[in-house]
Amino acid sequence: VEQTFIMIKPDGVQRGLIAEIISRFEKKGFTLRAMRLMTVDKSFAETHYQDLSSKPFFAGLVSYIMSGPVVAMVWEGKNVIATGRLLIGATNPAQSAPGTIRGDLAIDIGRNVIHGSDSAESAKAEINLWFPEGDKMSDSMRDVRSIPYIARGLRKG
Ligand code: GTP
Ligand code: MG
Repeated sequence: VEQTFIMIKPDGVQRGLIAEIISRFEKKGFTLRAMRLMTVDKSFAETHYQDLSSKPFFAGLVSYIMSGPVVAMVWEGKNVIATGRLLIGATNPAQSAPGTIRGDLAIDIGRNVIHGSDSAESAKAEINLWFPEGDKMSDSMRDVRSIPYIARGLRKG
């Protein structure tokens, strides 16, 4: 099954949009596989956006991503990379369609609340960068079911 890396950027966290954004991916039918609230340093932010290092907005982008905690997530499901980008909307919120996350929740290209991987290659690289522990924490529901008293409860319910 396909997986993608999704990050709620510092403005999304500061504005109280975590639940709203997660809800859109859940309601679409995708499965949350890993999630962590974290603040990144300069070298980590530069690595994440290394493909954009020659752009004039690169320094501003890096300081934006470092400016507060972000929610890093792995989402799974059929075509989640491309469909996740559709849910997110165009890079510039001035052009994002209403109904998309950026179209509904953002105004400025430099404060566009969410990141999503743009290809299978970048999804793989970004998941490895943000979740280097990999499989050890990725399948959280299977982990829950392996705890005997919770597994009994799930069987009864
Ligand atoms: P991400 O999901 O964050 O990677 O956005 P994207 O894939 O839609 O766009 P891209 O990877 O090209 O750019 C990464 C981020 O850089 C964008 O989300 C913006 O926050 C920022 N960015 C891109 N283009 C511009 C620009 O022209 N000006 C400014 N100020 N920021 C930009
Ligand atoms: Mg991008």
